[in-house]
Parts: sequence; C-alpha cells; structure tokens
Amino acid sequence: MGVWISDLKDHVGQSVTLKGWVYNFRSSGKVKFLLLRDGTGLCQCVYFKGECEDSALEEFPNLSQEAFVEVQGLVKEEARSPGGYELGATHLKVISKSENYPISPKEHGTDFLMTNRHLWLRSKRQHAILRIRAELISAMRDFFDGRGFTLMDAPIFTPSACEGTSTLFETQYFDQKAYLSQSGQLYMEAAAAAFGKVYCFGPTFRAEKSKTRRHLIEFWMIEPEVAFNDLYDNMELAEQFVEYIVQRTLKNKAEELKAIERDTSGLEKIKGPFPRLHYAEACEIIKKENPDFVVGDDFGAPDETIISSQYDKPVFVHHYPAAIKAFYMKADDDDPKYSMSCDLLATEGYGEIIGGGQREESYETLVGKIKEHDLNQEDFDWYLDLRKYGTFPHSGFGLGLERTVAWVCGLNHVRETIPFPRLYGRYHP
Ligand code: 4AD
Repeated sequence: MGVWISDLKDHVGQSVTLKGWVYNFRSSGKVKFLLLRDGTGLCQCVYFKGECEDSALEEFPNLSQEAFVEVQGLVKEEARSPGGYELGATHLKVISKSENYPISPKEHGTDFLMTNRHLWLRSKRQHAILRIRAELISAMRDFFDGRGFTLMDAPIFTPSACEGTSTLFETQYFDQKAYLSQSGQLYMEAAAAAFGKVYCFGPTFRAEKSKTRRHLIEFWMIEPEVAFNDLYDNMELAEQFVEYIVQRTLKNKAEELKAIERDTSGLEKIKGPFPRLHYAEACEIIKKENPDFVVGDDFGAPDETIISSQYDKPVFVHHYPAAIKAFYMKADDDDPKYSMSCDLLATEGYGEIIGGGQREESYETLVGKIKEHDLNQEDFDWYLDLRKYGTFPHSGFGLGLERTVAWVCGLNHVRETIPFPRLYGRYHP
C-alpha cells in the first residue's frame, strides 16, 4: 500500500511512494519542484540533480496540471512546505496525462466554474469548504447519537406535501403521482411515538423558482423530533445543537477555516443562551428600519438581517402568526392567532438556518387545518392516526445544512456548500 500525504508525519526518515495529481511544478537551476496533490493534502517533492534518478528529471517536460503521477522519495520535516513535510524525491513517473486542464490558477467566472464543478472540486478552496461540510455533518450526527436519539431515515418518495403545495416536485410512482420529500418531519413524528427521540438526515427538495444566495432545489436537512418536548424545550435543544456543531468545527477544522480566510472571531461567540424574540417583538424591531413591513407577513431576507444585526449570537423568533405557517403547527392556547413555531436566524446576515416548533396534537384541529390549507385529507390518513392512538405533545426542527455551511464558512452563496449543487436553472454536472 502506498502512503497518503496526510499520513507523512508517521513516515519521517522513511522512503515512501506517493500517488497523486500534479498541482504545480517549477525548475530553479539544478533543482526541480513538484507540488503533488492526493486528495488528503499537498506535498512538495524536491528533485536535486545527482541525488535523484536521471529519468525523474527527464519526466519533468511531460508534466502538466492534474496529470496522474507516481513519486518516491525520503520524507523530511519542512516547516515552509505546505503540510509541513516534503519529499527528497528520487523517482517520478507520469502514469496518465492531463492536457489543457480547463481550470488554471487565474480567476474564472462563476458560471464557468459551475459548469466545471466536477473539476472545480479539486481546488484548494473547494476542498476546504467541503471538508468543513463533512465535519459539520459528523458533529451533527454525534450530537444526536450521543444523546440517545435513534437515526430514522425518512423516505424520498412521498404521497403528500409537508411544506405547502407550491414548492412540490411532482414525479411518477409507476402509475401514480408522487412527490419528492420537502421534509422528513411527518415521518419523524410517527417515529417519535415509536422511539421517543429520533432524527433523520437526508436530501430534501423544493421546486423554488428563486435564484437567491440562500436557495437550493436539493438541500440536506437534519431533523430531530422529540416526544413530550414543548416549544421552549425545542429551542433549548436547537441552541445546544448549534453551539456544539459550530464550536466543534472551529476546533477540528481550524486549518480549513484559515485556508478560506474565514474570520472566526464572530463564530467563537456562538454559545448559548441565544436571544429569543416573540414575533410581535421582532416586528417592532423591523418596523424601525423598514416602515413598509406589514405586521402579519413573513420576514424577507432584509428583515431577518435587521433582526440578526442587533445581536452577536443567533436569535430565535417564535410565535409566528399561524396564518403564515404550515398546517401541522400547534396554535398557542392563550392566543391561537399565533403558532408554537420557532425559527433560528444566524449571525452576520446569514438568515434563517432552522425552522421548527411544537406540533398540533388534536385530531379535530388537525383535520380542520388540513382543510384550511386545501390539502387532501386522505393523503394524511396515516399522519392523523398519530392523533388517534395516544396523541402526545412533541416538537422538532429542521436545520438546513447548506445554509449552515455558508454561515460557518462565511460564503456569500450556497452554491459552493454542496459537492454538486442543484439550482434553479442548473442541474449539470
Ligand atoms: O423552515 P423549513 O421549511 O422547515 C421544515 O421543513 C420543517 N418541516 C422542519 C422540521 O420541523 N422538521 O426548512 C428548514 C430549514 C430552513 O431553516 C433552511 O435552513 C433550510 O431548511 N431550507 C433551505 N435550504 C436551502 N435551500 C432551500 N430552498 C431551503 N428551504 C429550506
């Protein structure tokens, strides 16, 4: 077995074989340098005339960006080298060529890079971002797994709408109509009655015809659902969750955050308690800066920024008007025009990253809500069963992974937060 660049620290003083792609190369008198990339890191390979095979130097004219090569040499510690190690190289062989690689170190337009997303992934910046994404996912799973939650995978093909009919992706299910899942929530509610504390994590789909920096057509959502939790327990869980995933990523992915030049001073402060605002309080704040805002409406991105800019921590807004929230939201017993809902708005203008709340428990109220929302009751027969057989208080939320990655990485668009983004107007490659 060969050695990975990320493991060179365990091979100092040894002669190793590395495989990888040419990241860069140059000559300087009797010395030639090859910067090798193997996916786990970069390693500078230094070829001195007289100390390496002649054939290695003869191979240099055949090098080109992203050619696949094999090298051998002695591992040395070298603080100035990327990764902290370099190879006193002896051998070099080009195994497969790469001619006219389209992405060069010069600036390319976003459209060009998106078209070449399958190659763009190899660049340093994309590499760092996607490793931060992977760490966030791992932290998210660990948070719930470590607290006694059971992972429950939700289906992708669904018979009904969870988040309104306007963003449904319709598809054929043999001779019937089906929809791609907008959220695993309804299934998690069933699972919470079976397992108490559950979560799902998977792709979700919204046919949103919007080209904003926050919207993907296919995005990943992690959705916990907890039996007996009310709205306030739900916010506490979300707060602990967000603190955990952000702080762990800062600790474990410091190098990657540095590589993308993220100023992490704001993220260091992401520790509970987070402020909590009733919708009515949030409206007062918005009205001061945006007098045209209509109380009762949902917040637009600029309104969310007005609220979040008041704080250096994420802020919960709870008790949105029932009229602008989904059919499953429980109404506040004291003032039923408000729902037991909560959203979490991230800092630095990144907007909503979490949506959730307490679910309606009453069979009769839920049937009424399904009618009010013009949904077909038959599609929800199984969901209504949960209210017939031991209905129970329960709450949950969904955190959008890509918006969270954009926030943690400080990116101005979600397109770089997922390996192969699906955007309005683009699903290639
Ligand atoms: O607020 P949403 O629509 O909530 C739900 O789907 C609930 N059923 C979740 C639950 O309670 N289990 O979406 C939740 C989060 C948003 O806060 C946002 O982060 C993300 O999902 N999201 C999107 N991310 C990228 N592109 C889109 N088009 C998104 N729509 C929602």
